Amino acid sequence: MVLPKPMISNNEFKIWQLLIEERCGLYFRESKSDYLSSKLWQRTELLGIKTYNNYYNYIVFNSRGKEEWEKLVELLVINETSFFRHTSSFDVLANSIVPKLINSSSKTSISAWSAGCATGEEAYSLVMTLLDFSETYNLEVVVLGTDISELVLERARNGIYKAAILKQISPYHKDKYLDFVKEGSNHFYKIKDEIKNTVKFSKVNLSKLIDCPVLEQDIIFCQNVLIYFQPQQQIKVVKELGQRLKVGGFLFLGPGEIVELKAEHLQKLAFDDCLIYQRIK
Ligand SMILES: C[S@@+](CC[C@H](N)C(=O)[O-])C[C@H]1O[C@@H](n2cnc3c(N)ncnc32)[C@H](O)[C@@H]1O
Repeated sequence: MVLPKPMISNNEFKIWQLLIEERCGLYFRESKSDYLSSKLWQRTELLGIKTYNNYYNYIVFNSRGKEEWEKLVELLVINETSFFRHTSSFDVLANSIVPKLINSSSKTSISAWSAGCATGEEAYSLVMTLLDFSETYNLEVVVLGTDISELVLERARNGIYKAAILKQISPYHKDKYLDFVKEGSNHFYKIKDEIKNTVKFSKVNLSKLIDCPVLEQDIIFCQNVLIYFQPQQQIKVVKELGQRLKVGGFLFLGPGEIVELKAEHLQKLAFDDCLIYQRIK
């Protein structure tokens, strides 16, 4: 028998709000209580647990709680993304930042990290942008894509995309880095192995960066992730990301995503319609 979704009480909402924020940074406002409870209820009902409180206890105290938590996270995150999503950031990257990095030192490699990469489009967009320089300057390109969700990481590793979602890729990049595949009535694009081999996808929780060994990046993109965090938590993550840049490296956030940041090691750069910080020490 299908049980109707019960209303979530204020107390229940509060304990879930705190747990989710503590474990993965996502902050659900009171106005999202209906949305949150419907996600919780999907799992609660499936497990045959009858209340949000009991489901909370299952997650926190049951030996299967850790495994269940991973399943819940998959339901809570929003994975919307696209190739070259914030075009101004990618334009600045190609026209200003990469040339600056190349000119400032005798580089033999360039590293970039897409933090909160969802299904991989941002990480592959970084690879395409950087590979455009690698032939001329003989640079090795190393890109990392990370996310809290294993489901999206698996899709990122597969690198298979519907033709309809490739609108923002130039014909040049499409021809060079993707293969068109036709299987029966199905059409899709597949990232070429040459690009796939340049990117590594792995699980990293941005709200627990203290456990994260990723360091010394030239470029970090973290866009459309921190909008789901509270200001204090956003600032903490941005500072920690900054510490994972090489001195002189660049951090790209989504414009308007964080309000004011005061960090000794990060300097905001003046580019229209972009939010970019450079590590200065
Ligand atoms: C809206 S997508 C943005 C994807 C891409 N950066 C872009 O701008 O198109 C947000 C991604 O952040 C991930 N995410 C949310 N919280 C996270 C956390 N604490 N650590 C790592 N990734 C997280 C989600 O799983 C999701 O894939």
